[in-house]
Amino acid sequence: MAKHDIDPNYNDPNYEPVVNHSGNTPFESVLASRLKRRSVMKGGMGAALASVMGLSLAGCSDDDDDAVATPSTPAPDGDTPSATELGFKPVAVSTANSVVVPEGYTAKAFVPWGTPLTGSLPEYRADGNNTGEEQEQQVGMHHDGMHFFPIDMKAGGNSSTEGLLVMNHEYINQTHIHPAGATGETNLDGVIISRPADEVRKEIAAHGVSVIHIKQGADGEWTVVHGSPYNRRVTGGTEMDIRGPVSGYSKLVTSFSPLANQTRGTLNNCAMGPTPWGTYLTAEENWHGYFANSGVLTREQARHGVGSTSRYDWELADNAADEYVRFNVTAIAASADQDYRNEANTYGYMVEIDPFAPESRPQKRTALGRFGHEGVIFAPVTEGEPVVCYSGDDSRYEYIYKFVSAQPYYAATAGGHLLNQGTLYVARFNEDGTGEWLPLDLSDAGFKAKVDAAVGTTVGAIAFDGFENQADVLVNTRLAADIAGATPMDRPEWGAIDPNSGEVYFTLTNNSKRTADDIDAANPVINNINGHIIRWAEAGSDYTATSFEWDIFVFAGEQGTETVVDGEAVVTLDDSNIFNSPDGLWFDYNGRLWIQTDGYSNEVFGNQMMLAANPVTREIKRFFVGPQGCEVTGVVTTPDSKTMFVNIQHPKANWPNAAEARPRDATVIVTRDDGGVIGA
Ligand code: FEO
Ligand code: CA
Ligand code: CA
Repeated sequence: MAKHDIDPNYNDPNYEPVVNHSGNTPFESVLASRLKRRSVMKGGMGAALASVMGLSLAGCSDDDDDAVATPSTPAPDGDTPSATELGFKPVAVSTANSVVVPEGYTAKAFVPWGTPLTGSLPEYRADGNNTGEEQEQQVGMHHDGMHFFPIDMKAGGNSSTEGLLVMNHEYINQTHIHPAGATGETNLDGVIISRPADEVRKEIAAHGVSVIHIKQGADGEWTVVHGSPYNRRVTGGTEMDIRGPVSGYSKLVTSFSPLANQTRGTLNNCAMGPTPWGTYLTAEENWHGYFANSGVLTREQARHGVGSTSRYDWELADNAADEYVRFNVTAIAASADQDYRNEANTYGYMVEIDPFAPESRPQKRTALGRFGHEGVIFAPVTEGEPVVCYSGDDSRYEYIYKFVSAQPYYAATAGGHLLNQGTLYVARFNEDGTGEWLPLDLSDAGFKAKVDAAVGTTVGAIAFDGFENQADVLVNTRLAADIAGATPMDRPEWGAIDPNSGEVYFTLTNNSKRTADDIDAANPVINNINGHIIRWAEAGSDYTATSFEWDIFVFAGEQGTETVVDGEAVVTLDDSNIFNSPDGLWFDYNGRLWIQTDGYSNEVFGNQMMLAANPVTREIKRFFVGPQGCEVTGVVTTPDSKTMFVNIQHPKANWPNAAEARPRDATVIVTRDDGGVIGA
């Protein structure tokens, strides 16, 4: 049943349509020609450009006295081993269908797709014959972002032997999830006209989030605590609330929620962020593909790439149940409260789940904006100060955002309500290594003036007729950012914050469509197939600041790829650390930076991998290589840093169980044979 031109096993990066036609190129011709010239002279590597631009945080703050303080970590002194030192022997690239970890480490697969989790604990069937109802009680497919919550954290504890492992299930593989792939009826033209409802039910159930209560035994083995009340599945069909400024807005009215304050499901959950109050925010990334509009697209649909057919044809379920019909977002009835024309407007948010409250309804936090959220990273909180978090929009030429809460944080009363009110900013990266946070808020005179000036013009491909109110701004976050003048980036994926220096890091995974005409200082590589990692320090080390200074931490690529700062190659990649397409990113509790890849595999790079970096010295070593066909995504450790969890998504061959024909996404548990700290 091949209808859509999507690789059933792997849809990235070709599932990242360019839908930003705003033409935002803030530094345009002067800078572009300068960069082009330099890149030719220097042999084409963007690395040289960092040198041209003098893009070093230290360099910037050295320039004059009133430059922002750069909170960089002091260089480790010679005698004291730094907590960020990389003590392991790097592993070579690998094309084996197995996980590779350094000498002295052990890796074991854990909680693969289909693991019994709730209810009657239905066993996984290796022939694909689990039903939809059974999948609702099993761990979902395509593991992605994940976090470990110590079981005793609400009581102030920090257990490293028992906790809630919470993870996303980004999407599915229709070939593997059913006995013989997706089935359905087609018309004479080969177009699908209906799909078996239970296949649809199963596919929806394999999406979403799993909350898994796990415990380490005296023998060191981790197991699922079956029967725990915390074990839970949130799926593409779970009822949830719309919270924040968009709740109640007319553009979210549906037949299910005439008050526009509820919806069903969360989809395409890529990365995540633990909140300072112990809940889990899951990101809705490529949700646009799940909806179909056979009529005229709204601007809210068009700017995200909603099309006339959906990725999995759920709207064509043969029982025509309301919970499936809703994926048809065509205006078909007399009014919005009688159809699902607005259903897609209830997606594209960060969704808060409290893993310690299994009966609680997930909350879509709309103040953080609506776009292709890759994930979210919270800044360290200070009593009495606002809550700040960052989120990237992973599509080519999309943006990086920052949310600053209106209400201050107090540990005693902190909760999700802090995410309901605040200011959403979008980043502009200037050529000179400075940057600005541009508010997307109609109460800001500067933004309001830009909006007013744009009315009646074409913004990208969209004829702009204004915003009705702030809820409309948030539903159309991308469009608002276009108007504000944000910098289009090379697919912003995960962010991470250095616990020692306070600097914010983001992966820019790749952008093969970046041309000589649209490069800029922050995205300086033409045909950026390998990606890079950018970082910044907020002015005055204040996360609420509206300006920052940035540099490029590392350019990915083959052996010999240089990252040059002030004329000096600060990183030159070699066999121990070549990589492409950085995606997952996490600072561990000691300050080591973990970099995960989701890119192309060939004889040079081998399979996808995870590396560790020392943020001070920029030393990078390959720590982990995944099995064939996978991406490596999602990483966390226990608080003592002695057990690491790493997710393997869309393995290609019969991994992790060689005796089974179907591959299964799974978590990998990595431990050190001597019981030591991972990476040290
Ligand atoms: Fe789901 Fe952007 O990777
Ligand atoms: Ca990702
Ligand atoms: Ca990716």
